[in-house]
Amino acid sequence: MSVSGKVVLITGAARGLGFEYAQALGAQGAHIVAGDVADCASAASAAGNGSIGVRLDVTDPGSCEAMVAAAVAAFGRVDGIVNNAALYGSLSGGRFNAIPEADWDAAMAVNVKGIWNCCKAVVPAMRQGGGGSIVNIASLAATYGMPFALHYTTSKAAVIGLTRGLARELGRDNIRVNAIAPSAVMTEGTVAFLGDKYERGLEVIRTGQSIQRTLAPADLSGTVAWLLGDGSQFVTGQTVAVDGGTVML
Ligand SMILES: NC(=O)c1ccc[n+]([C@@H]2O[C@H](COP(=O)([O-])OP(=O)(O)OC[C@H]3O[C@@H](n4cnc5c(N)ncnc54)[C@H](O)[C@@H]3O)[C@@H](O)[C@H]2O)c1
Repeated sequence: MSVSGKVVLITGAARGLGFEYAQALGAQGAHIVAGDVADCASAASAAGNGSIGVRLDVTDPGSCEAMVAAAVAAFGRVDGIVNNAALYGSLSGGRFNAIPEADWDAAMAVNVKGIWNCCKAVVPAMRQGGGGSIVNIASLAATYGMPFALHYTTSKAAVIGLTRGLARELGRDNIRVNAIAPSAVMTEGTVAFLGDKYERGLEVIRTGQSIQRTLAPADLSGTVAWLLGDGSQFVTGQTVAVDGGTVML
């Protein structure tokens, strides 16, 4: 039921939650291929098990294919991918009609098209290995409908639609496609995203939860590991809200 021995790609693994997933899944015995536009050497070493780091730009289909090729060269197959890379803290917030067009386009290019690029690259290797598990990172922003960051909210809602449609296309290949929708956890991205409203933002989010504590990275890595592992073999097309019971899907 665990991820032990599985080969798992993680995008956006240089820092934040991607780094946490690499470390946590590595601790459970997975071989990790950590990819990011930034250097992933420390994520690979934190994961252990011969894990490797690669330079990856999810907006570039050739870069996504190179990541998969590096995984196959190192470990002979690919069992799973966590599509975690996204633009988040670097996006400017504000009213829907004040969002810079360049920010809107960048959010769609990385957060949505980047996942499509990675899925196109990884599916042939998964088919070759007889199946696999794709885990896409959505957000409470989409399930709740977060205002004042419409580009981010819309991009994460697209991730949920992509997950559902792709799950139906790939079920016959024994490839499962699911998403998680986390609420807020402290990363460099969150601090940058909420700015000086950081403490207040977390308090507002906590108030809306059924469970009255702040989300921890381990809450997310546990759900990601379950979706990657064989314990969720009959689960596909789902978005699991990991938000302490804020939105009940
Ligand atoms: N932190 C939260 O509270 C929270 C809540 C809900 C959802 N999420 C989602 O979780 C994921 C990780 O969030 P985080 O807080 O760790 O973000 P982060 O900003 O700290 O990390 C994102 C990583 O993605 C990488 N990246 C950006 N563009 C890339 C590209 N084109 N190609 C490859 N890598 C790229 C960055 O270099 C960075 O290492 C994101 O998808 C985010 O939207 C986060």
